[in-house]
Amino acid sequence: MPLTLAALWRFFVSEGVVYWQGMKKCLVIANWKMYIKSPKEAESFASTLRGRSRQFSGVEVVVAPALPLIPATAAALKGSTIKIAGQSVSPFDGGAHTGGISASMLKEAGASMVIVGHSERRAEGESNEAINEQLLRVLAAGLIAVVCVGEAARDAAGVHFQTITNQLSSALKHVPKVSVSKIVVAYEPVWAINKQAADAMKPADLTEMVIFIRKTLADVLERSQALRVPVLYGGSVEGQNVRALLLESGVGGFLVGHASADVDSFVEILKSVRLGSR
Ligand code: PGA
Repeated sequence: MPLTLAALWRFFVSEGVVYWQGMKKCLVIANWKMYIKSPKEAESFASTLRGRSRQFSGVEVVVAPALPLIPATAAALKGSTIKIAGQSVSPFDGGAHTGGISASMLKEAGASMVIVGHSERRAEGESNEAINEQLLRVLAAGLIAVVCVGEAARDAAGVHFQTITNQLSSALKHVPKVSVSKIVVAYEPVWAINKQAADAMKPADLTEMVIFIRKTLADVLERSQALRVPVLYGGSVEGQNVRALLLESGVGGFLVGHASADVDSFVEILKSVRLGSR
C-alpha cells in the first residue's frame, strides 16, 4: 500500500517527534563541484564570504571545494565559523589506489565534513556498497558525513520511496551508535539538480519526503538518535525558492550547487535562510 502523507504524520504524532531544526541551527553547504577552479578564485570567494558573515549570523555555513582548493580555502577561513567539506572520498584508507583521497587526507587538508554518495558520483559508478564503505571511513576519521540520497525519477506508484529506503539502509549499514550524531542526510532528487528555482521540488512534496526520510532513519538507526539527524534538501536551490522551501517543508538546511558558485547569490540564499529560521 502506498504511504500517504496522513499516515506519515500519524507516525510523527505518535512518536512525539520534535523537528531537528527546532533544536539546531540551519546548515547550508556550498557544493562548489568544479565551478570554482583555482586556489585564487577560492581564496577570494572565501575571504568575501567571511567578510559578509554578519549578514548570515546564526546560520551554519560550510563550503565544499575541490580537493586542490581546500588549503587556500581553509587558510582564508581560518578562525571563522565557516567550515570546509570534501566533495567525495575513497572507500579505502591507504595503499595501492591511484587517484584515491582518503578521509584522513581530507581531514589533514582542513575538512571537517565529507559529502558521500552524491548523485554525480553515483552516475560515475559509485555503488551503494562503496558509499557505505566511504561513510564508515569518514566517521572513523572523526569527520561528519553528508549522505546524499535521491531518486532519478518519480511515478504515480511511488517507486521513489523504495529507492530512498534502499539508498539509506545500505549507506547506513554498520554505523556505530556513537557516530550517529556525525551524520547528515541530504535529499537531492536527481531530476531537480542543476536546473532553475522553478524546476526545484515543490515545498509540499518536500515535506512528504522529509517525513518519509525521518521515518526510514528511525527504522534503520537507533530511534531517538535518528530523529535528530539533520535532513537537508538539494536540487536547484536559489535565492527565489529557498525561503518557501525552508518555511514550508521542515528541512534542516540545504546543499546548494550552481547558486553557491557565485558569492553574491550564495550570500542571498544565506540571508534568506537566516530570516526564515528566526
Ligand atoms: P544544484 O546542485 O543546486 O546546482 O541543483 C545541487 C547539488 O548537486 O548538490
